[in-house]
Amino acid sequence: MSRKKLLNIVGARPQIIKASAISRAIRLHFAETINEVMVHTGQHYDKELSEVFFDELEIHKPDFNLSVGSANHGRQTAMMISGLEEILLEENPDVVLLYGDTNSTLAGAIAASKLHFPVVHIEAGLRSFNKMMPEELNRIMSDHASTMLFAPTNTAFRNLMNEGFRPDNSPPYTIDNPRIFLTGDIMYDNSLFFAGLAETKKASFLEQMSLEKGKFILVTIHRDTNTDNFERLENILTTLKSLSEEFTITFVLPLHPRTVNSLRKDHSHLLDELSGARYIKIIAPVSFLEMTLLEKTCRMIITDSGGVQKESHFFGKPCLVLRKETEWTELVTNGTTALVDADPERIRSQFVKYFNCGTDLSFPTFYGDGKAAEFILGEILEMIG
Ligand code: UD1
Ligand code: UDP
Repeated sequence: MSRKKLLNIVGARPQIIKASAISRAIRLHFAETINEVMVHTGQHYDKELSEVFFDELEIHKPDFNLSVGSANHGRQTAMMISGLEEILLEENPDVVLLYGDTNSTLAGAIAASKLHFPVVHIEAGLRSFNKMMPEELNRIMSDHASTMLFAPTNTAFRNLMNEGFRPDNSPPYTIDNPRIFLTGDIMYDNSLFFAGLAETKKASFLEQMSLEKGKFILVTIHRDTNTDNFERLENILTTLKSLSEEFTITFVLPLHPRTVNSLRKDHSHLLDELSGARYIKIIAPVSFLEMTLLEKTCRMIITDSGGVQKESHFFGKPCLVLRKETEWTELVTNGTTALVDADPERIRSQFVKYFNCGTDLSFPTFYGDGKAAEFILGEILEMIG
């Protein structure tokens, strides 16, 4: 059998991390059958949002980088589509792999489907049912341009069926006769694989950061609804500062540049106040191994990130989600994740509840067996034979 060409499209931090699970599974199980091509749109370009992951996670390095950078949605997505179209025509892949819900995902879905390349969407079927989120539009449009859709949870699989995808389509699969699969989550594959390595390779990281196991709260904030709305951002940050003082516990915030830019540009007084606060530690984004170690050793996680919510569950930590809704509803139903929006009262009461609940919480396995990437690649090979 001739080797099949699988073209990955990545652009933003979480996609690079997700692609590492696929890269690793190719290296370990499909090196003789799959030839991997990596296209980076350049949506994320700072070293700590991009290069650090290629170096640390041993991902197939980008064969192409479109370097589109930051721009308004329309311009950014259009530049990606235009660049991707050229590469797809030149590379003529057997299949195109897309991850998640960013503008890079949408651009890949449009460029590849219009050129009639089979699109594989990993993390298909997730829905927040809030179309004000750019990610929700990206997800829906990408799913409906795909030929193979890998849903990471039962809920995501059901969402696809509710939108008319049929679970019993027979091959040959096409964009008009797509195949939906329930698989695990490739992010769980990664967390299982890297959890031990994080402990050994980053053994001195906590000490460098002056942090002690179990004695800090990990916080990430980057969602546009929070960064671009000062009232929300201020409510969140001032509530966290006051909790840190009341409970005399350090809050560590590896902040996305979007959040820092927003604070620097329009609200430097708040940034100064936080920078001078005794128990608040604002740091640059960290590498995946460092993040994994922080997640494993913190007491609680507070985030608006999709990925960090799940990692919180993987490492058995309660989580406050700074949003009105989540795509990972099983976590909320399980009682270990709470939607607190940007509401000071909800943040405070839920924080107190989780802070005092010790080890009473349980964290069942919702996300597969750590072999989702292998399963996905096996099914792709079956389709393209
Ligand atoms: C994007 C995704 C979001 C995902 C997040 C992961 C979309 C619509 N959003 O959001 O779903 O959760 O990535 O982190 O695709 N910036 C830098 N350096 C960089 C990249 C961005 O400073 O390397 C700053 C710029 O000011 C830029 C802003 O961050 O304008 C937003 O970047 P963008 O890629 O548009 O969206 P994210 O908020 O990162
Ligand atoms: N992450 C990281 N360093 C950080 C913050 C996050 O490596 O400083 C990782 C995190 O562990 C997770 C992924 O980035 O795997 C989540 O990405 P992000 O929060 O940017 O996006 P989302 O998941 O919300 O789309």
